[in-house]
Amino acid sequence: MRVVVIGGTGRTGTYLIPKLIEAGHDVMVVSRQRRVPYQRNKAWDRVVNAVIDRAKEEASGSFGVRIASLEPDIVIDMICYKEESARQLVNALRGRVQMLLHCGTIWTHGPSMQVPSTEDQPRRPIAEYGIQKAAIETYLLDEARRTGFPAAVLRPGHMVGQGWIPVNPVGNFNPKVYCDLAEGKELCLPNLGMETLHHVHANDVAQAFMQALANWSGAVGENFNVTSASALTLRGYSEAIANWFGRPASLSFLAWADWQKTVSPEDAVATWDHIAHSPNCSIEKARRILGYCPRYSSLEAVKESLTWLIQNGRIEVRPA
Ligand SMILES: NC(=O)c1ccc[n+]([C@@H]2O[C@H](COP(=O)([O-])OP(=O)(O)OC[C@H]3O[C@@H](n4cnc5c(N)ncnc54)[C@H](OP(=O)(O)O)[C@@H]3O)[C@@H](O)[C@H]2O)c1
Repeated sequence: MRVVVIGGTGRTGTYLIPKLIEAGHDVMVVSRQRRVPYQRNKAWDRVVNAVIDRAKEEASGSFGVRIASLEPDIVIDMICYKEESARQLVNALRGRVQMLLHCGTIWTHGPSMQVPSTEDQPRRPIAEYGIQKAAIETYLLDEARRTGFPAAVLRPGHMVGQGWIPVNPVGNFNPKVYCDLAEGKELCLPNLGMETLHHVHANDVAQAFMQALANWSGAVGENFNVTSASALTLRGYSEAIANWFGRPASLSFLAWADWQKTVSPEDAVATWDHIAHSPNCSIEKARRILGYCPRYSSLEAVKESLTWLIQNGRIEVRPA
């Protein structure tokens, strides 16, 4: 089949495109060609690149038509952030594709309520990104169930892979947190360190997309959390990483109001975003219907990523 992946050279695409090629699909990747995948793979030699700027084409109302003109059987949309963008695409693809797979997010859940969070719980997003993604999800599932448009939504957790910094044990992206844990320095956690993060390896996200393609009848009209099997508490995550570096974790704790003053405004915003959600998601639906079976636990994914970052000089640590 011809699979068009919109935004296929990023985190997920790095792992997904080789899997699609390996499965025998004709693959077209839509991007602005400003970046290359995080890892080179010979499969990319067999990919056709379509240079399209979604923002520009959407502004002139031609994005959906441009994608339809590529004559896809399947469209995987990695970079849809507004309901209007989804509407434009669906209207152009209606009756012309076998499947539209949308990359959503676990942020559509909003703050965790009953954990692990299942997809049938009400969507209660709390910030603009999650609100928009929830609106897209609602729209696509409604289209699938009401009009038969073949859409499905996969909702990754915090993506981890080789080449970028994973969400760290204080819930932001500051690499110094890993260095401090490696060097046995004290790390201060917000509150009691019991808020949660839910990572997923991008290779497992790619697996979920492949499983959705292979399970059309189960996937269409449905949404699926795509995370590792278990979330981490900030405290447990800190201790595991320190131990991995051969140290006991030296942890202290501060209530949020004081903790936020100890970090940069940018780090505080990222941490708040993560701990206000404190995701802890169930993957039972994806396991049951798609046969999703993550290869990586959260810690395995993060350790692999850290190993890459250290080996490639992106973070410098002096372990015990
Ligand atoms: N990152 C996370 O932890 C996380 C967690 C949950 C959900 N998600 C979801 O994951 C999706 C993003 O996937 P990703 O992280 O794999 O992607 P990514 O790493 O952000 O890569 C973005 C891709 O889109 C292309 N792109 C960006 N702007 C474009 C434009 N205007 N026109 C055409 N192409 C464009 C980029 O290539 P060029 O720059 O060359 O155009 C690249 O191929 C989003 O839907 C997000 O909501 C992410």
